[in-house]
Amino acid sequence: MTTSSPTRPTALVTGASSGLGEEMARLLAQRRIDLLLVARREDRLRALADELTAKYGIRAQVMALDLADPGAAAELARESEYRQLQIDFLINNAGFATYGDFADSDLGSQLDLLQVNITALTELTHRFLPGMLARGRGRVLNVASTAAFMPGPLMATYSASKAYVLSFSEALSEEVRGSGVYVTALCPGPVETGFQERANLQGSRLFSGPAQLTLLSAPEVARQGIEAMLRGDAVHVAGGLNKLQTLLPRLLPRSFMPRLIRGIQDTGNLPQGKKGRKA
Ligand SMILES: NC(=O)c1ccc[n+]([C@@H]2O[C@H](COP(=O)([O-])OP(=O)(O)OC[C@H]3O[C@@H](n4cnc5c(N)ncnc54)[C@H](OP(=O)(O)O)[C@@H]3O)[C@@H](O)[C@H]2O)c1
Repeated sequence: MTTSSPTRPTALVTGASSGLGEEMARLLAQRRIDLLLVARREDRLRALADELTAKYGIRAQVMALDLADPGAAAELARESEYRQLQIDFLINNAGFATYGDFADSDLGSQLDLLQVNITALTELTHRFLPGMLARGRGRVLNVASTAAFMPGPLMATYSASKAYVLSFSEALSEEVRGSGVYVTALCPGPVETGFQERANLQGSRLFSGPAQLTLLSAPEVARQGIEAMLRGDAVHVAGGLNKLQTLLPRLLPRSFMPRLIRGIQDTGNLPQGKKGRKA
């Protein structure tokens, strides 16, 4: 049976098979933190675990899991207990978006999104936070988005799920204040990862035109996220322009925001007839 190193802490990173999760795993390994890497693509997790073990001499383990499965978080908690892993850092990073009018969308995909982005994140936090509090130390990093700050037509459930992550994390951050445990919400703007392709967002003004000014690389956002988590910040918005953007809902009339965001998020690729019941 494998156990945590008696001297090194352990981080559980969800969504470690690509993008931000992979980069955050690299940064944690550089800091000599053992890893439990979770996602569905086991081959990618294993390749990363082997690379980081060889490079940094840490212990990196993998667990292939579909977090859209309602039993997944319980299975993950059971398995980490069986492997005698004490989770000191919980990085709730796994997440995805769908694109298009909600009424035309596949309901199963929407419910999977809520399960991965909200329910699994909440359940994992509930399962690992009490142990951290009992030990008087630990970190939870929840990956939200700048989308958390405003409604997102054509990505309605995604933006709403990230608003949940932000609100939940800020509330927990206050609940655990003074305990030695810190909860951080990382809010990236657009980042170059596999995210856009999976959500069919190619062509969206979120990732092109003037928005390219706000585009950051995955290693940069991961670095900012890990540093914010270690500082114990409650919220970190990655990138100066993105920070400014999150202030817009406070400055503009509430009714104007959905129209503005719709204009930005429209890829122009939606089939005719699904282009919006009133753009
Ligand atoms: N890229 C952006 O522009 C951006 C902006 C703001 C916030 N974010 C957030 O950043 C986080 C990381 O996304 P990313 O940009 O790094 O995209 P990504 O490269 O697509 O990575 C997403 C990760 O989540 C995992 N994942 C997705 N569905 C899963 C499921 N059902 N079960 C288990 N793992 C699952 C994926 O692994 P498998 O496919 O192997 O399961 C992958 O490792 C997400 O929460 C996303 O919402 C991204």
